[in-house]
Amino acid sequence: MGSKPNPTKISEYAAKTLAVFLITGANRGIGLEFCRQLKGKGNEVIAVCRKSSKELDELNIQTERGVDLASEASIVCLKEKLSNTKVDVLILNAGIAETNCLENLDVESIKDQFAVNAIGPLLLTANMLNNLREGSKVILVTSRMGSIKDNNSGGSYGYRMSKAALCMAGKSLSIDLRPYGISVALLHPGLVSTRMTGFTPHGITPEQSVIGLLNRIDSLTIDSSGGFWHSNGETLPW
Ligand SMILES: NC(=O)c1ccc[n+]([C@@H]2O[C@H](COP(=O)([O-])OP(=O)(O)OC[C@H]3O[C@@H](n4cnc5c(N)ncnc54)[C@H](OP(=O)(O)O)[C@@H]3O)[C@@H](O)[C@H]2O)c1
Repeated sequence: MGSKPNPTKISEYAAKTLAVFLITGANRGIGLEFCRQLKGKGNEVIAVCRKSSKELDELNIQTERGVDLASEASIVCLKEKLSNTKVDVLILNAGIAETNCLENLDVESIKDQFAVNAIGPLLLTANMLNNLREGSKVILVTSRMGSIKDNNSGGSYGYRMSKAALCMAGKSLSIDLRPYGISVALLHPGLVSTRMTGFTPHGITPEQSVIGLLNRIDSLTIDSSGGFWHSNGETLPW
């Protein structure tokens, strides 16, 4: 971001103009599919993960390993490695979901989910500010399970609380980054068949989800910054 915003505006990038995308949780699931589709469209992709996978290696893209969203030291290390890299779209996708029912609350598990789902994405965004410029976008992959209004089934304390916290962080980021021309979106991928959901047969595929998510990213503007959307385009309640 720097003290003075760069006057170059990146407006139309997806499928049209090359842009630099950084994606966390890139080794599997939705993050891997982001990498696959974005590379296919000709973008430059920086895949960030704890450990790579065969599927990610096969994409042959820049891969930054050893980045644990729960570790501030590894986030700072990534910042140092990428100090000369401009990023047009920062996608904070990595996340964990653990079961926490009222009868058996596991405080460490709840703290872990806050660390990875809420604090990590905020910390990484803060550490990447100098990599962003006017027209850049920050995308926080949250969940409608973080919506207070949409909560009709209870439970999942750590996951719901941490994703609600991520939504709040995203809203504040949208306000703080608006003067620099950087827009922010909170996106729910839908119910997606990945390891997180036990590869549920009731979910959409990562491919379908990412097509929708990329459409949302494409249509995000500074005027719509700070919104919360489903990958299918529906606006979600906080
Ligand atoms: N699938 C759904 O239906 C659904 C619905 C709503 C929201 N979401 C959100 O979508 C995002 C992606 O989920 P997914 O379905 O693709 O799940 P997934 O297949 O379980 O992938 C999760 C990703 O997060 C990474 N990750 C976990 N802990 C990490 C840590 N401490 N540091 C860095 N990376 C870490 C994983 O890497 P490792 O291999 O190293 O663990 C993996 O790449 C998550 O934020 C999730 O909450 C998913």
